[in-house]
Amino acid sequence: MLHLESLETLRTTRKAWVKSGASIAFVPTMGNLHQGHLRLVEHARTLADKVIVSIYVNPMQFGANEDLDSYPRTLSADMEKLKAAGADAVFTPTTEMVYPRGLSEQTFVEVPRISNELCGASRPGHFRGVATIVCKLFNMVQPDHAVFGKKDYQQLLVIRLMAEDLSLPINIHGVNTERASDGLALSSRNGYLNDSQRQQAAQIYAVLQSAQQAMLKHGVASTEDVRRLEQESQQQLKAAGFTPDYVSIRRQQDLAPAAANDTALVILVAAYLGKTRLIDNLEVTLG
Ligand code: PAF
Repeated sequence: MLHLESLETLRTTRKAWVKSGASIAFVPTMGNLHQGHLRLVEHARTLADKVIVSIYVNPMQFGANEDLDSYPRTLSADMEKLKAAGADAVFTPTTEMVYPRGLSEQTFVEVPRISNELCGASRPGHFRGVATIVCKLFNMVQPDHAVFGKKDYQQLLVIRLMAEDLSLPINIHGVNTERASDGLALSSRNGYLNDSQRQQAAQIYAVLQSAQQAMLKHGVASTEDVRRLEQESQQQLKAAGFTPDYVSIRRQQDLAPAAANDTALVILVAAYLGKTRLIDNLEVTLG
C-alpha cells in the first residue's frame, strides 16, 4: 500500500494507474478508522481496480465549539487497518496543502437546498465545510467512484447533489451503516462515551426500530401521523436519558419532509448523551 503525502505523488500515481487502464474508487475519511470505514473500502474494491483512501481531519467542517482539537488522530493504526483491508494508496494531505491561503480566504462550495436544516441547523457551516473539502479531494484524486456511509445520510445527499449540480463525472455510492452487536451505529465519536453512556447509546437504534415497526404496521396516512411518530420517538429518547436534537421522517430521495403516500422514507435522529452528539437513521420502504 502506498502512502501519498503530497499532491504531486498523488497525481503521478493516479496518472500512471489511469494510463495502465485502471479505474479508481475513492473513500474520503477523517481517520480513526473502524469497521464501518473498512466496509466502505471493501465496497470500493468491488467498484474499481484501485482504491485510494484519504485521511484528513477537515477544520472547515467543525464549528467553533466543536471537537476539532480532540478529534482522535490514529494514523499508524489506520494505516495498518487499510493495508489489511486491501487499499492501494492512502493520501494524507496537510492543512497547508489543502487550504494554502487559510480558511477565511478559501473559495467554498455550498449546497443550499439541504444544508441548513436537520444537522445543518445545529451545526451552521458544517455542510459547506464538507462540500468544500469533498469537492477539493475529488479534484485532487479524480476518481471514477466515491464511497460514503449512509450513517451520515444528510452528508451523502449533500455530496450527491453537489456532484450533480457541478456535473462532476463521479459515481457516488452509499453503503449501509455498520453496527455494534447491540445496534449502536459505529462512529469515531462513540469513543467519547463512558461505559454507562455507551450502554445507553444503543437505545437510539431501539427507538428507530420501534418507529420503523409502527410505520410498517400502520403506514403513513397523513402528515399528522408523521408528526405524532416523530414526537413519540423524541419522548422515547428523552426517557432513555438523551437530549434529542431532532427526530425527523423524510423522503430518502431528497430529504423533503415525509407526506402521505410517500413510500421510500428515512427516519433521522440526532441526540446528545452528555456532551456527545450522536446521529443515526433507518430507511423504511412502505407498500
Ligand atoms: O464523513 C467524514 O468522515 C467526513 O465528513 C468527510 C466526508 C471525510 C469529509 O471530511
